[in-house]
Amino acid sequence: MEDYEKIFENNRAWVKSKLAADEHFFEKLAREQNPEYLYIGCSDSRVPANVIMGLDEGEVFVHRNIANLVVSTDSNINAVIQYAVEHLEVKHIIVCGHYGCGGVKAALHPTDMGQLNSWLQTLRDVYRLNQKELDLIKDPHKKFDRLVELNVIEQCVNIIKIDHVQRRWYKTGFPKIHAWVYDLHNGLLKELDVNLGAYFQGFRSIYDLKFTDE
Ligand code: CO
Repeated sequence: MEDYEKIFENNRAWVKSKLAADEHFFEKLAREQNPEYLYIGCSDSRVPANVIMGLDEGEVFVHRNIANLVVSTDSNINAVIQYAVEHLEVKHIIVCGHYGCGGVKAALHPTDMGQLNSWLQTLRDVYRLNQKELDLIKDPHKKFDRLVELNVIEQCVNIIKIDHVQRRWYKTGFPKIHAWVYDLHNGLLKELDVNLGAYFQGFRSIYDLKFTDE
């Protein structure tokens, strides 16, 4: 049997195990989804959202792309965030980067990567915005790790800039935005030590769209 065909066997075994635990599992799940979390992470195959968070089917709405970027002209992520915030009414939006991220590494070592150039440009912008801090770090591994973290923080700020997010936040106090990093070497998630509200305060006058009439 080809590896590819094995997937269907795996699928049937998974269905069987779910039904053994709860014979109405799929009926219930098919009715609706009501996740509290939107997770935005890297496409890296070693960082599967549900698995690392220990969450079940239906508990997290997921968007993944190379290096977990939130790009304002990306209609894919804009649609995901709008749907999550307005329709699913998620309480938390998590941006989860990971140490050892190939996308972030590529941004640290500029080479012509064809189609990927424009995508990685956003990461190079994060580098430029934080160049003073990053260039003081002499250990290349530490510098790499720090750019992973700074990228997560910058993508959180990009979420705060979005009108749907601000509108809902003014109305309900949600969603809360979280900056996380996953460590491939030990499997642990950590919340970055950053006060995003205070950080955003510094440039609030530029990005705050103020929905005072609603
Ligand atoms: Co990655």
